[in-house]
Amino acid sequence: MKMIAIAALALLAPVAAHAEDVAAGEAVFHQCTACHTIKAGQPGVAAPNLRGVVGRKAASTGFAYSTALKASKLTWDKATLSTFLKAPQKLVPGTRMVIAVTDDAKRANLIAYLATLK
Ligand code: HEC
Repeated sequence: MKMIAIAALALLAPVAAHAEDVAAGEAVFHQCTACHTIKAGQPGVAAPNLRGVVGRKAASTGFAYSTALKASKLTWDKATLSTFLKAPQKLVPGTRMVIAVTDDAKRANLIAYLATLK
């Protein structure tokens, strides 16, 4: 029994090591707050409000979006957000969102944090 328990722990450990870290993601988000607000009900001025962004359609708040993002017809599921944040101009040429998060782990943590903003 003891052996099985140890083997099970050994199998679980790598999964835990790759789990997304919401607190670390919140720290990454500090580079976004220069432009983006996450305050409920507050209209975005320099950039769209990102509260509830995970799962919503691109360019769907009252913000004055670029034509490019409006025409993108994207939905911000986690995978699409990840592609966008890795290289915004590559997924949506002409978007005015120019900040990229190229580090895969940081980006995963950031998106996990964004998903908590309901
Ligand atoms: C220099 C200002 C600025 C910074 C910093 C910035 N953004 Fe943006 N972001 C924008 C603008 C402007 C748009 C609207 C783009 C458009 O209309 O093409 C945008 C759009 C977005 C969108 C699409 C939102 C929607 O409603 O469709 C997401 C998601 C996003 N940004 C995430 C981030 C994240 C995450 C960070 C931090 C890593 C970040 N942004 C940093 C200016 C910024």
